[in-house]
Amino acid sequence: MTTAETTAAQPTTGPAVTEDRKAPPATVVIFGASGDLTARKLGPAVENLARHKRIPAEFGVVGVARTQMEPTDFRSRMTGGEGSVMPALNEGFRYVAGGYDDPDTYRRLRETLDGLDNERGTSGNRLFYLATPPEAFGPVIEGLAGAGLNRPPEGSFSRIVIEKPYGHDERSAQVLDDRVHAAFNESQVFRIDHYLGKDTVQNLLALRFANAIFEPIWNRTWVDHVQITVAETLGVGTRGSFYEHAGATRDILQNHVLQVLALALMEPPASFEAEAVRNEKVKLLQSIRLPTMDDIDRIAVRGQYTRGGTTDELMPGYRDEPGVDPLSRTETYAALRLDVDNWRWAGVPFYIRTGKRLPKRVTEVMLQFMRPPHLPIRLDQVTGLSPDALILRIQPDEGITLRFGAKVPGHSFLVRSATMEFKYEATFVEESPEAYERLMLDALIGDPTLFIRSDEVAQCWRIIDPIIDYWADDTRPIPLYEAASWGPTEADRLLDRDGRAWRNI
Ligand code: BG6
Repeated sequence: MTTAETTAAQPTTGPAVTEDRKAPPATVVIFGASGDLTARKLGPAVENLARHKRIPAEFGVVGVARTQMEPTDFRSRMTGGEGSVMPALNEGFRYVAGGYDDPDTYRRLRETLDGLDNERGTSGNRLFYLATPPEAFGPVIEGLAGAGLNRPPEGSFSRIVIEKPYGHDERSAQVLDDRVHAAFNESQVFRIDHYLGKDTVQNLLALRFANAIFEPIWNRTWVDHVQITVAETLGVGTRGSFYEHAGATRDILQNHVLQVLALALMEPPASFEAEAVRNEKVKLLQSIRLPTMDDIDRIAVRGQYTRGGTTDELMPGYRDEPGVDPLSRTETYAALRLDVDNWRWAGVPFYIRTGKRLPKRVTEVMLQFMRPPHLPIRLDQVTGLSPDALILRIQPDEGITLRFGAKVPGHSFLVRSATMEFKYEATFVEESPEAYERLMLDALIGDPTLFIRSDEVAQCWRIIDPIIDYWADDTRPIPLYEAASWGPTEADRLLDRDGRAWRNI
C-alpha cells in the first residue's frame, strides 16, 4: 500500500446515503392547502416521493385551509388531477376546512389524524407543514399545541416545517421563535429554505470538502473576490401584495443568498452531521461585518424595475403590477458588498446581488482569483486574458466552469482566457430530485442538516436589518432600472469603486 493510500482520510459517519432513505409511515399535514405553494411545489414533492418509492403505503396527506374543499378536490390539487402514481396513496388524502385560530379546526384535525393512524397504520407520526401566509404561523402553532398535537404519542414524532419568511426582521423573528419554542423543541422545528434542497447548492459541500485540490486556494491568499448572483427574468406576477412587504432583500438576500454564501465560505465541518454543518454556518455568518448606517450608501444598492424590454415583448414596470402601490418604494433589486472578518477571508470583498426582471435567469457563485504575481511575458500578449475564476452554476444549466489562461494557437505567444466545463447533465445519468422533494423527505426522516437553525435566522436578520432600516427612510430616492436590464447603474459603481466589475453573464 502506498503512503498516499495509507494516509487517506477515513470517512466519518453521517446521514444515510440516498438509497437507504425512505420515509417511515407518517401523515403530512399541509396548512395553506388551497394556496399556490401547495399546488406548485408540495403536491409534486409528495408525488415524486411516491414515484421514487421514498414513501411507504402507510402514508396520509391532510390539507387544512379556510377554503371549503372536498377531499377529492384536494387530492386533485396535490396530484395534478390524475390521482396519485402510487395507487395506495389515493385513499390517504383528507381535508379539514376551518379557521387557523379556531380550536375546532384542530379538534377535527386530531380526529382525522387518529382516524388515519387506525385506517392506514401511519403510526402517529406527523409532519405539519406551514405553507400559509406568515400571519397564520403563530395561530397554527398555538392551535396545534392547544389540541396536544405538538406532543407525539410515545414512540412517534411530531415535527413542524415552517416556510419563509421567518419574521420580518430580527425582532419579529425572535417573537415568532418564542411562539414556536413555547410549543415545540428546536429539534422538532424544520425552517425551510428551498435553496438548500438544490443539488447544486449541496455540491458546494462536495466540491469543497470531498476534494483536496480546491481548499488550499479557497482563502484570502488566492481569492481576489467572490460574486453571488441570483437573477430572475420574471417580475412579481400575481404576488404583488405579498412582495410589497418583502422586497428583494427580505425575499432572497436574507435567506437564499446568505445560505449559499455560508456554505461557500464556512470552515470545513468535522462531519456532515446536522449540528457540525450548522455550527460552521453560524460561525461564518457571525463573522460577517454588520453594516452600520454610515456604511450603507457605500456597500448597498437597491433598485426597482420600470417598463422595459423589446417592442415585441414590453414588460410592465413594478408599479404597474397588480397589487402594487403606484408610488411603491419596494426594491426589486438589491446588491451588497459584505466583508467577512476572520482569518480565512479578511480583506476579500463579497458581492451579492439579486433582482427580478433581469435579462437572464441564473444563479451562480463566482470566485475570482488573484492575478499571477509576476508575468514573464509582455502585457500586449495577454490582452484577452481575464483573471482566473471558478464559476459554480447553481441553475439553470447546472455545472462548473473553470476560467484560466491558455496559449492561443499560432506562431506568437499570446495568452487568452479559455474555460473547462463540467455539466451535470453530460456527466451524470442520475436525476436531481426537486428541492422540495428532497427537503420533505429529510423532514420525514428527521434529518435537519439542510434546514435553518434558530440562531442562523437571527444572525441573517442582524446582517440585513440595518440596510432595510436605512432604506425605509422616505426621503431617499430609489434608483430605477428598465425591465430586462442588469439593474441600476449604481450597482456597477458599487464594484467600480473597488476596481472590480460584475461578471458579464
Ligand atoms: C422564493 C421567492 O423564495 O424563491 C421568489 O419568494 C423567487 O420570489 C423564488 O422567485 C426563486 O426560486 P427558484 O428556485 O426559482 O430560484
